[in-house]
Amino acid sequence: MEFFGNLHNCESSEQLKREVENDLSDAIQHGMLVSILARRLAIELDKSREFCNDMAVAGLLHDIGKMKLSRYLYWRREDALDDEEMKYVRMHPTLSYEVLRTHGYSKRILDAIYYHHENFDGSGYPKNIKEYSIPEGARILRVCDVFAALISNRSYRSAFDVDTAMELMIEEVKNFDMKIFLAFQRMVNADDFINVVYASFLEKDEEISNSIRKYLDSIDEIK
Ligand SMILES: [Fe+2]
Repeated sequence: MEFFGNLHNCESSEQLKREVENDLSDAIQHGMLVSILARRLAIELDKSREFCNDMAVAGLLHDIGKMKLSRYLYWRREDALDDEEMKYVRMHPTLSYEVLRTHGYSKRILDAIYYHHENFDGSGYPKNIKEYSIPEGARILRVCDVFAALISNRSYRSAFDVDTAMELMIEEVKNFDMKIFLAFQRMVNADDFINVVYASFLEKDEEISNSIRKYLDSIDEIK
């Protein structure tokens, strides 16, 4: 894999190997979380069983193109990158599409992945398309991807709790299809949300589990 090619030239290869393994572990966990959320959101939107399953696959694989990016850019905060680096990072949906295109995935899955960074108001990438010209699967992934990133720890910040994540998303609601966002809110507020995400998640990711548990406890207190 090209991603590991960089390791050979590195002086502290053990440390770098550990960092790469952490990155991969984060990437896999992020993919799992987006997968669980996207499938569940598709169910909330009353989509067919096939559509829901496609969302699970697309969620898991949407960022696979990042594996082709240099480790120096991987998972770094977008606003800390210069223009050239940003251009590079923004290639990842296209790289994901290119990696998966010859492996027999449905058009729905490939479209969802290719357009998962398009914003509803047209401010996203790679094609700057907007509103309903963005495939529905990509509009679903967009909401789930942002939420999953916010409730996860990053190298430059701690995870937000679910309440704060939802508030931050409301501030940026122009990026989302409102019907899909409202369905997502219903899903997050549902009694079984803990079973949907927390129980489905790897034990290791205690931060996500804790923030979700805290949120659900606070709902219980209100009731
Ligand atoms: Fe992405």
